[in-house]
Amino acid sequence: MRSVALILAAGRGERLGSPLPKQFLTLAGQPLLRHSARAFLAHPRIAGVRVVGEPEGCAAALDGLGLPAATPGGVTRQASARAGLEALATDPPDVVLIHDAARPLVSPAVIEAVLDALAAGAEGAIPAVPVTDTLKRDAAGMVGETVPREGLMRVQTPQGFRFEAILEAHRAAAGAAMTDDAAVAEAAGLGVRLVPGSEDNIKVTLPGDIARAEALLGAALVPRIGTGFDVHRLVPGRPLVLCGVALPSPLGLSGHSDADVGIHALCDAIYGAMAEGDIGTHFPPSEARWKDADSAAFLRHAASRVAARGGRIAHADVTLICERPKIAPHAAAMRERLAALMGVAASCVSVKATTTERLGFAGRGEGIAAQAAATLLLPP
Ligand code: CTP
Ligand code: MG
Repeated sequence: MRSVALILAAGRGERLGSPLPKQFLTLAGQPLLRHSARAFLAHPRIAGVRVVGEPEGCAAALDGLGLPAATPGGVTRQASARAGLEALATDPPDVVLIHDAARPLVSPAVIEAVLDALAAGAEGAIPAVPVTDTLKRDAAGMVGETVPREGLMRVQTPQGFRFEAILEAHRAAAGAAMTDDAAVAEAAGLGVRLVPGSEDNIKVTLPGDIARAEALLGAALVPRIGTGFDVHRLVPGRPLVLCGVALPSPLGLSGHSDADVGIHALCDAIYGAMAEGDIGTHFPPSEARWKDADSAAFLRHAASRVAARGGRIAHADVTLICERPKIAPHAAAMRERLAALMGVAASCVSVKATTTERLGFAGRGEGIAAQAAATLLLPP
């Protein structure tokens, strides 16, 4: 069963009232649309993702994910869904999961439940949660009546269907303004099964919903700690750069790049926390282009990997191990520099130093060592 996700991102977001349509607003460092697309790209049972929306804005939001150009949408959600289905019809999948870009927190379990129902033979399947509040009708600010809530469900997306059937249903319903695809399916007489949705699968709609989604996302992140260690030899005729700050010194560190031992240890801590190898994996010393490179680029890369995984850097702690130069007078500048490169507040970054009581290579001034720890918050 080849399953493709169709993500609708052509709305104007009028109820949210931001100048930028809500699907392009940033949630934990990434556009809402990117969260939604990544949820499906990461799902092993989803073979492809197609997006409906303004092509340029979508391309920027989805940069690097390897998706085809977005299909322009229509005036209503229903028209946008139909445009996406027509685009998919050139290479039709067996089933399609139609999803609102505005639901960035869709979980693997909800996607799974929809796919399972379709695999079991359902013509359509949509996630739903029961109404738990008592319902009243508003009669000009007064309670008009109490509406029985028994059997009422709030429905979400992704809404899954056999592709040919929902394409036909959408063609037949063209011109109406139904707010979900299940309504289109109902109009065509298709049976649509209800599967368990999630209270966290919110549709960002009203002001304040971004903050709500961010809180839900934050709660779902898991702390991971990484450590790093590095040593470089001190030699004459090289500049000394430590934690991104150039220091006056008769000796500098030798190495392929600028040999900033502090940044190297910190990068390894960040890569380690993500279990993504080490600095040599990403910037092989065998490659000439990293010769004398500013190590700032390495730290920016490590931080961008964290963002690409939907995580954030919660803290970093670097210890430089040397007799001289004295680090304390420069520690504040180093913290500022590292924080700027990682895009975090300086209050999350610590730089400190120790000697080894003149023992060993560091004690004899033959080299400088650094160790680092980083705490990341990453999606599970
Ligand atoms: N959508 C779409 N094309 C439209 C209208 C909506 O692709 N013409 C998409 C939205 O981008 C959103 C999803 O359908 O991801 C659900 O619609 P809704 O929450 O109503 O979003 P908007 O229409 O953008 O918001 P509003 O109704 O507040 O203007
Ligand atoms: Mg709308």
